Amino acid sequence: MHDSTRQLDEMRALARQGGGERRIAAQHGKGKLTARERLELLLDEGSFEEWDMFVEHRSHDFGMDKETVPGDGVVTGYGMINGRLVFVFSQDFTVFGGSLSEAHAEKICKVMDHAMKVGAPVIGLNDSGGARIQEGVASLGGYAEVFQRNVLASGVIPQISLIMGPCAGGAVYSPAMTDFIFMVKDSSYMFVTGPEVVKTVTHEDVTAEELGGAVSHTTRSGVADLAFDSDVEALLMTRRLFNYLPLSNRERPPLRPTDDPADRVEPSLDTLVPGNPNQPYDMKELIVKTFDDGEFYELSPDFAKNIVIGFGRMQGAPVGVVANQPLVLAGCLDIKSAIKAARFVRFCDAFGIPIVTFVDVPGFMPGTAQEYGGIIKHGAKLLYAYAECTVPKVTVITRKAYGGAYDVMSSKHLRGDVNFAWPSAEIAVMGPKGAVEIIFREEKGDPARIAAREAEYREKFANPFIAGRRGFIDDVIMPSETRRRICRSLAMLRDKKLDNPWRKHGNIPL
Ligand code: HXC
Repeated sequence: MHDSTRQLDEMRALARQGGGERRIAAQHGKGKLTARERLELLLDEGSFEEWDMFVEHRSHDFGMDKETVPGDGVVTGYGMINGRLVFVFSQDFTVFGGSLSEAHAEKICKVMDHAMKVGAPVIGLNDSGGARIQEGVASLGGYAEVFQRNVLASGVIPQISLIMGPCAGGAVYSPAMTDFIFMVKDSSYMFVTGPEVVKTVTHEDVTAEELGGAVSHTTRSGVADLAFDSDVEALLMTRRLFNYLPLSNRERPPLRPTDDPADRVEPSLDTLVPGNPNQPYDMKELIVKTFDDGEFYELSPDFAKNIVIGFGRMQGAPVGVVANQPLVLAGCLDIKSAIKAARFVRFCDAFGIPIVTFVDVPGFMPGTAQEYGGIIKHGAKLLYAYAECTVPKVTVITRKAYGGAYDVMSSKHLRGDVNFAWPSAEIAVMGPKGAVEIIFREEKGDPARIAAREAEYREKFANPFIAGRRGFIDDVIMPSETRRRICRSLAMLRDKKLDNPWRKHGNIPL
């Protein structure tokens, strides 16, 4: 073998072994895969093109000049997911704890820059002890270079973060600016300061898992979208998410052929809404019975469960789904649900994914916790998101659409393109009980009279026809024909063009 070929083989072998067998065994011992094993699962077989395998750090302090590992703790390049291009970086915890040096950051920036040039998503696999302590400010500069690119790429190419180990301190802010964050239970955590600092400052005793583990972030903070039991599951579900996304804001989302007929009728939906308006039902039943092949990729299912978000397909084309969930808090809008849905609506709008909204909302959640927490500002986020959104919007009111929440949930007035209501829809300023208590306050002492007033109000207002008469509702449809009517609407809207006035950017109530 020629000398230079042998040298290449040796250099590659050295880079591939990362931090060495002992550290790889330790990584496996924690139930984690290595950086390269993860990429093998994420990408189509044999599609990975690795770059910068020979990059090394340039620091000399603390004996670092004697400690170099080719690749410097991150594996970068591009590959395919189901034949579609994606750029990737995968931090290697076995090399300096996956910590970020200046050179490590440069490798990440290189793939991000290429992704922007060609218009393809970036998926980052995070497993890192944070800034390379031996490098100091050079490492901090490296983080900021990545942050800047995250921001410029936002809304241009989809960005997905998988947290598969430590992600702490300022390092959390790169994933925080990406579109989706997935975490692995018991082996990953994200926090701005760790348990020791928390103990010193606030005297709280908390474990890393409690403070910033996958369950905490998918149920309490809402920082992460999905929590998985293992690296393998997280990677396979990332591949599935990828199938709903366009490569960039210049492309349409990918089509997936289906045998599910566009005109499929679903008779069971005609009895989904209970006769008693106070009785809940599961909005997810409507979702799975409406979209292609009963498939729904739900995001943030354990956070703000009173609103459901996720992706489905109609006639093969991805759609974003937003739906009030009457099973939780009667489907009320509160701070968390407004923020959850607003961010999703903005993602869909940025990437040209049509939005289907199912409405059953009795209003905004009352109370001091909500008011002091800023429901006015946070509720406005969802209103703002729907109002600025220019992708096709199809809305179906299944039952309650009361008050300001009626306006917010993709109403005609916020440029909803096609707005349907089921016969069970109640579109009014408020529910009959609240309305009668206010307008017939003087009859409060007479329960029979109040009951009659309520019945009268319900008869008059708790229906879709008043809105229908004004054209706020385009049609009242039978629940069983919901799929067919949405499919037709989306097909009609396929080439919709709508531009907002020029501006540098709006000022969404943050
Ligand atoms: C250099 C690091 C490192 C780091 C870990 N290592 N973190 N090297 N810089 N930040 C090295 C260790 O020396 C060790 O090397 C190997 O990685 C594995 O680390 P262990 O401690 O043995 O692993 P473990 O017990 O699993 O603990 C993981 C850990 C811990 C919790 C992440 O290593 C840790 O606390 N590291 C420091 C975290 C930190 O304070 N980072 C700076 C945060 S500030 P050997 O050779 O023994 O294998 C920050 C600012 C970013 O990140 C700002 C952006 C704006």
